[in-house]
Formats: sequence, C-alpha cells, structure tokens
Amino acid sequence: MKAILLAGGKGTRLRPLTLHTPKPVVPIFDRPFLQYQMDLLTQVPEIDEIILSLNYQPRRIEEIFGAGEGTGVKLRYVVEPSPLGTGGAIRYAAQGIEDTLIVFNGDVMTSVDVNAVVERHRSAGATATIVLTPVDNPSGYGLVETDAEGRVTRFIEKPQDDELTCDTINAGIYVLEPHTFDRIPRDVAYSIERAYFPSLTERGDTFVAYVDRGYWIDIGTPEKYIQVHRDMFDGRFTAGLFTGATRSAPVVSPEARVDEGATMVAPCFIDVGAHIKPDATIGPYAVIGRGVVVEEGALVRHSIVWSNTRIGQHAEIDGPILGRSCHIGRNVVMTGPAVYGDKTVLTDYTHS
Ligand code: GDD
Ligand code: MG
Repeated sequence: MKAILLAGGKGTRLRPLTLHTPKPVVPIFDRPFLQYQMDLLTQVPEIDEIILSLNYQPRRIEEIFGAGEGTGVKLRYVVEPSPLGTGGAIRYAAQGIEDTLIVFNGDVMTSVDVNAVVERHRSAGATATIVLTPVDNPSGYGLVETDAEGRVTRFIEKPQDDELTCDTINAGIYVLEPHTFDRIPRDVAYSIERAYFPSLTERGDTFVAYVDRGYWIDIGTPEKYIQVHRDMFDGRFTAGLFTGATRSAPVVSPEARVDEGATMVAPCFIDVGAHIKPDATIGPYAVIGRGVVVEEGALVRHSIVWSNTRIGQHAEIDGPILGRSCHIGRNVVMTGPAVYGDKTVLTDYTHS
C-alpha cells in the first residue's frame, strides 16, 4: 500500500517563514514537520512507500529526506509541472497505482489511528473514507455532514457563516480507490475538496467518515504553529522528543552548551549546538533551535527561535517566532506573537 503526502502548497499563511523553508519541512522542535507524519504512517505495516507530492521548492524537501534512509520507509518524490490543486496533485502522483491509497494533507499533526481508518474503509467497502475531527469554528476548513451510519452526506469547503450546520471538519486524511481518479481532469488545477468529494455524494458512492476525537491541528498559520509546540510541551500531544516523561523538565540536547549561571525554566527545549551564556534565562515555552547563541543576560520565553540565530546581551524576547540566522542586537525588546523571517536584523535597543 502507498501513501501520498500532499506537500506542494506555498504556505502563504506562514510567510515570511516559508519563503526559504517550505511548510512541510518547517521545524517542530528538532525535526521537520513531515517527519511526524512519516512516523505515524510507519505504524501501518502495509505501507511500503510514501510519495511526496511536491510543487513549491521541491529540492529543499528532497535534500532533507533523500530516499528515506533516516525515515524508516521508502520515499518517492513527484513534482507537478504546475500546481494542480489537491485533486490534480493526487491523480498526478497516483499514476500507475491501482491499490487502495492513503492521502494526507502535508500540514496536519494528528494522533489518528491510521490502521483503524483503513479498517473502516475496508469493512464499509468504501470508494472513499475521510477522517473528520470536531473543531470550535469550522469556517476555515472543509465542513462535512454525515448521516446516522457515518456516511458523508455533504461536503462544503470553507463554508459561509450560514452554512455552519455541524462541527465536524475534514481532517485532511483520506483512504481512496484510484480507479475513481479518471473523474479528475488531467493537467488543470482541480480541488479534491471542492469538486471530487461533492461529486461522490452526488453520485451516491460509498463515501464514509471516520470521526477521530484525538489530537488534531493544521499547522498552517503562525498561531497554530505556536500552538502545536505548546501542546507538545504540555503533553496534550505526544510525539518525537515529547513522549510525556520529559515535559516537566527542560529538554536540552546533550550537544547543546548551557553555561553555568544560565537559568532554564520548564518547559523549554534547546537543540544541538545551541549555546546559552551565563545569566541568560530560557523559558517557559521557549524553543531554541540548532546552533542558536543566546548571549549573557538575555531572556527568551514563549518564543520559537530557528537555527543559527543570535540573541544579543540582555535582549528580552517574549512571544515571537524568529526565522533562521537572525541577528537580534543587545537590549532589544520583542513582545507579542509576531513572525520574523530569516536573516532579520534588529539593531541594539530596538523595541518591537
Ligand atoms: N502537490 C500539491 N499541489 N499540493 C498542494 C496543492 C497543489 O496544487 N495545493 C495544496 N497542496 C497541499 C498543501 O501543501 C497542504 O498540505 C494540503 O495540500 C492542503 O492545502 P492547504 O492550503 O493547507 O488547505 P487548507 O488548510 O486551507 O484546507 C485543507 O485542509 C483542511 C484541514 O487542515 C482542506 O483539505 C480542508 O477541507 C481541510 O479541512
Ligand atoms: Mg492547511
């Protein structure tokens, strides 16, 4: 069985972070986002290959994962000639595949039991199975109505306020039968959400839902990107480094350097090669990326700092996301959840 990860979007809502780092590989703690999806998919013993459907900056993604040596499963990359939308991308990536297929949106973090979803698909003899998750406000998602038997009766992508009839949304995880893909037009942008799914309900195909009430988040906005880190710190979601046992203490890479006199306030995370100098304070809720230097007396909390950024002496960083290789001068004060792109330079004493 094969899985397709849809990882071709531009990540516009995460700009400027995604100008040089495509959304599927933005770091979540010490590893690129897609690594978490690959870890989840390796729990399905039948999956022998994961296909990454790419469009935006494909090279950067290939460079990170290669043929899958470090991921535990064989990887293949399919790059569309032009963005084909979610439906077009699935058809393009699924060429030559006849067997049942698993598809993930490349930006959802979840604890769903993928084996159970496949089981639901098979026992229903479904043409398509979709994972649903309840959310407080479905308007930014695909709203999905179901009947008493769990069959999908209506799919409305990005519903208007007067269409909010239920709280279950498309979680971006599907089991699909490729023999239906000839309904997807070739070579033009085509949305699986706006066209293919509604067509299944119109034709009366067996289109079933699997409602999952476990952890689920789409990391595609700065607020959600910060939230997923918070949730892992707090143990609401366990994966990767955060297995639950570590969260009440600072998580510090053995290859990081924390000088005497620096203060670590849990929860916080310090990655490989970072250097925290005396009298600096890290945490709570601080993520310090690879090779970051935090100078004497600086304070970093409620912030995510990507690799190789330097935080100057006595700077106070409270709330932002900082991209790679930024230079934050001494006594800079940053408050609030703003997003700064790679190589941002803030002059000494700047308040922002
Ligand atoms: N290869 C390829 N080509 N991938 C694409 C393309 C494309 O043209 N367009 C989007 N993608 C990928 C994105 O990278 C992302 O991983 C996924 O498809 C979904 O696109 P988003 O842009 O993130 O969509 P969304 O978040 O607004 O809505 C989707 O996800 C929601 C759940 O998070 C929809 O599937 C909604 O129905 C759903 O509720
Ligand atoms: Mg999304």
